[in-house]
Amino acid sequence: MTTHETNLILPSLLASDWSKVGAEVKRAEDAGADWLHLDVMDGNFVDNISFGPQMVQVVRKCTDMYLDVHLMIHRPDHYLERFILAGANNITIHVEANYDTSVAETLQRIRAAGLQCGIALHPSTPFEAALPFVNDIDLLLIMTVVPGFGGQPFMEKETMPKLAAARAHRDTNGLKYHLEVDGGVYTHTAPIAKQNGANLFVCGTSSFGPADMAQSMRELAAAVA
Ligand code: DX5
Ligand code: ZN
Repeated sequence: MTTHETNLILPSLLASDWSKVGAEVKRAEDAGADWLHLDVMDGNFVDNISFGPQMVQVVRKCTDMYLDVHLMIHRPDHYLERFILAGANNITIHVEANYDTSVAETLQRIRAAGLQCGIALHPSTPFEAALPFVNDIDLLLIMTVVPGFGGQPFMEKETMPKLAAARAHRDTNGLKYHLEVDGGVYTHTAPIAKQNGANLFVCGTSSFGPADMAQSMRELAAAVA
């Protein structure tokens, strides 16, 4: 069973070769991934457009891996049902997004559907913004780049104190949610994130990039072992 003490490397599909997405999903699975990270971008909440629920559904058809869906979109509550039906296992929503209802109600709907739920914080959003929700989440995602694009450098100074504060608050209060980092995670930055409390490491460029993905996954796992 995966707990907040389990370290996992999560390949991010954003960095895969979309001309053969089914084979890329299989490549990640064969390379040892248990969870796959799917970045949904709406060209509005972030300055890029990626894919939507149909892609999540395509990926679901290719694999039984745990699908960790990161919604970088406004009005995630409006689109929620489609991602649930597409076969997501976890849905993470941003506290900074616009909602027709509210963050709390959206989390509640995700859980009611039998999925796990997470909230994400932009690098400039303080940990305090997560406080109203920490009792109701399975995962807290601390963005380590400004969301929108793969291949950006890890924002250590801006985000590691926040991650450490989240870990301290979580452990002091006996909470069990995962701490996930996303953006610029490589073998040299993953250990820094681990030291500060992360146990889920989203890796795009560093996992799908190299030709031998099994080797890149092994090296990343060794870096956080
Ligand atoms: C950034 C996305 C990330 C991205 C990470 O907006 O949320 O998941 O794919 O990519 P790398 O690992 O290349 O920084
Ligand atoms: Zn992401």
